[in-house]
This record gives sequence, C-alpha cells and structure tokens, in this order.
Amino acid sequence: MTAPKKLFIKTYGCQMNVYDSERMAEALGGKGYVETKSADDADMILLNTCHIREKAAEKVYSELGRFKGLKAEKPDLKIGVAGCVAQAEGEEIMRRQPLVDLVVGPQSYHRLPEMEEKTQTGEKALDTDFPEEDKFEKLKRRPKAKRGPTAFLTVQEGCDKFCAFCVVPYTRGTEVSRPADRILTEARDLVERGVREITLLGQNVNAYHGGMTLAQLIWELDKVDGLERIRFTTSHPNDMQDDLIEAHGTCAKLMPYLHLPVQAGSDKILKRMNRSHTAESYLRVIERIRAARPDILISGDFIVGFPEETEEDFQATLDLIKEVKYGTAYSFKYSTRPGTPAAERPQVDPEEADDRLRRLQALLNQQQREVQDSMVGREVGVLFEKPGRFDGQMVGKSDYLHAVHVADCSKKAGDLARVRIVSSGTNSLAGELID
Ligand code: 5AD
Ligand code: SF4
Repeated sequence: MTAPKKLFIKTYGCQMNVYDSERMAEALGGKGYVETKSADDADMILLNTCHIREKAAEKVYSELGRFKGLKAEKPDLKIGVAGCVAQAEGEEIMRRQPLVDLVVGPQSYHRLPEMEEKTQTGEKALDTDFPEEDKFEKLKRRPKAKRGPTAFLTVQEGCDKFCAFCVVPYTRGTEVSRPADRILTEARDLVERGVREITLLGQNVNAYHGGMTLAQLIWELDKVDGLERIRFTTSHPNDMQDDLIEAHGTCAKLMPYLHLPVQAGSDKILKRMNRSHTAESYLRVIERIRAARPDILISGDFIVGFPEETEEDFQATLDLIKEVKYGTAYSFKYSTRPGTPAAERPQVDPEEADDRLRRLQALLNQQQREVQDSMVGREVGVLFEKPGRFDGQMVGKSDYLHAVHVADCSKKAGDLARVRIVSSGTNSLAGELID
C-alpha cells in the first residue's frame, strides 16, 4: 500500500471559506489525500483565500513567498490558491508567483480532483468558471466519519445587492440558493455523525429561496431529531421577512443571536454605499426582532472612512450603535477594492479613518463588555465543544455564542446543558452546571 498523500489547507476570510475548505479536503480525499496540520510535511498546499479587503488579499502573496524554500526542497510539492483571490486575480497569481501550480475559484472547486491530476503531469491548472452545475452535488459524498458538535452548512451563495464597497458579487457570483431537500439531506448526515448545532451560511442567507423561505427551512430543520441548535449568517436588513423574525420568538432551536450588518449610520453614506436601507429602517427591524425575542444578542459589521464620510456622518454611526447596543461587532476601515464603484471616489484621509476606527471600536468594545458582563447570574444553554486548558474543565458556547468554561465538568463534547454564569472574564464566561 502506498502512504497517503498529505494536504495542508490554510483558510482565510469568512465562515463560508471554512465550509469550502472542508469540502475541498473531501474532494481531494477521493484522490488519496489526508489532511495535515503542517505545511512542512504536505504534498499539496492549498490557500483558501479572501479578497474582501486589500490586506487580506496581500497576505496571500506574502504567504506564498514563504513556501519558496519548501518547494525548492520538495519539487513535487503542489501549491494551489483557492477562494476569492483566485477568482478575482486568476492567472495573474501564477504570473506574480510562478511557484503556484493550481488556481481554483469558489464555484469550481468540485473539479479539484481533475485539476490535481493535471498538476501531477507538471502542467498548471486554472479554473475560475461559474459553471451551471451544482458543485455540491458533484462533490464526493462525505466519508461517514464522526465529527465535532458544530458545523457550517452553505445554503445560499453570492449576492445581487452590489454594495458599492464590496467584491462579493464579483468573486462569489450572483445569488444562488441550494434546493431545500439537498440541504436537509446534508443536515441529517451531519447529525448522524455527531453534529448538534448547524450554522446555515450564505452571503445573503436571509434572501434564501430554494423552494421555501429561510424561516421555512429552519422549521424543517427543527424537525430533525438530534439537531439541537440552528443559527444563520449573514443577513441583509432588507431581507428580514416577517416569518423569520417571528421564528426567533417561536422556534426553540433557533438561537437568540443575529448578525445583522448595517455598515454605517448616516443615510447619506448608506445611499452612497447602495445599501438600499436607511438607519431608521434598520432600527425598526431591530425593534421588531427584539419584540419577537427580547433577549436576542445583536451583532453587526461597520465600515468607517467610506469615501466622502464626514465627521458628522461618522457621529451618526456612533449614534446608531448607542441605540442598538451590540453584543458583538466587526469593524473595518474602508479598503479600496479594484472594480467596485466606490474605488473611483474621493477617499477619506487615512489617518482620519484610523482615528474613527479607534473611536468606533472603543464604543463597541464597551458595549460588548457590558453585554457579556450582564450574563453573570443568568442561566443559559451551553453546547460543550472540547476540554479546556485545565484538568476537568470543558469549554462550549452559550445560546448567545459567548465562550463558556465550566470547571470539574461532568459533560463531554456534544453535550448540551443548562449552566449558571458565575463570572465574566476577558473573552469568555465561567459557569456552573445546573443539576
Ligand atoms: N472595506 C472594508 N470593509 C469591507 N467589508 C466588505 N467590503 C469591505 C471593504 N471594501 C466588510 C463589511 C462586510 C464584512 C464582511 O466586511 O462590513 O459586512
Ligand atoms: Fe472573503 Fe467575501 Fe470571499 Fe468570504 S466571500 S472569502 S469574506 S471575499
């Protein structure tokens, strides 16, 4: 028997890339590859990349440069670039970094096995098509191996909203929803293999329309025995339909956590971002969600320094944040992306943008702290994921997605338990099991 070949995948960017990396590993598993945690002993290295901001894209080239020595030592080593940088830059990647053997976009990675074969003959392989076929159906079935208690499941991909700052419609393509029956089959398979919590993924997940609405899909998943928790991300404020809002109040498996990016609080900037909602309409959506589920934890994304953002516009973002009170948030300095409409517009002074980002993050951190600290004394559900750093300790996630650790814990990974929160640390909560 020949020893299996080793595959090292490094994943950048969003949760969908995490899901894609898992599927790519399965696709190459059919070619005899097993995953390794170290690039040094790999026969193939795949970087699954992100193009959302300039820094993310540049990281890929510096990482590739580091593999030069490795490739010199091991001429048979294959190096591939997958994901959104692959889609956006295609052949240019091989020109800029000739050690790259393979470039594959997010919509064509089901063809990886054939591409890998091509690289074995010394040829380069490039595929950045948007094929008609359903890549997930073409992929080899998952081996029935056991897996951890939480999983991502892509239900929708791409975006038709064309926010003026964003590369996603170009790298992931237009909006496509997977048929509900295939999602349910995949979900049941995950549950059979030990999964207790599924996070439904989509760049515009609440625009899901694979024969039913996202809320209807959630209710179908609610019927799957053994599946205990459902989450979804990322949503657009304009697609928060009534049935989805209502499900937050009525579906016990749907967790009280919603990631709902707003990006900015100034209507002038929202208009220039082509967001097609206002600060007010966003706040009304939040109000309706909180009416359905008062304890829901709200998360968001923010961009500061978008072209032509003034101090007054920025203040409107701070005002909106104060009104919402976020439990967690992701904030970024605007990054010019080639080919997007905002790239051509007058840019904000970078130092001013840095200063705004600092002020924005100070406010968000303070809110996050307050929301986390307010969990002390409360009873929450915790899904345990793994042992903690200390003997006998287990770590899991609360319903609200806070990391929670429990000392002298009688539970194992995959167990769901009621926990009383006793203290709030830097990035996590400590709790005790409730009998
Ligand atoms: N610059 C900075 N942040 C961006 N995002 C998307 N495009 C850009 C950009 N060009 C942020 C948005 C989005 C998150 C995934 O990344 O906040 O919601
Ligand atoms: Fe990055 Fe967006 Fe691509 Fe995800 S979809 S990898 S966030 S560019």
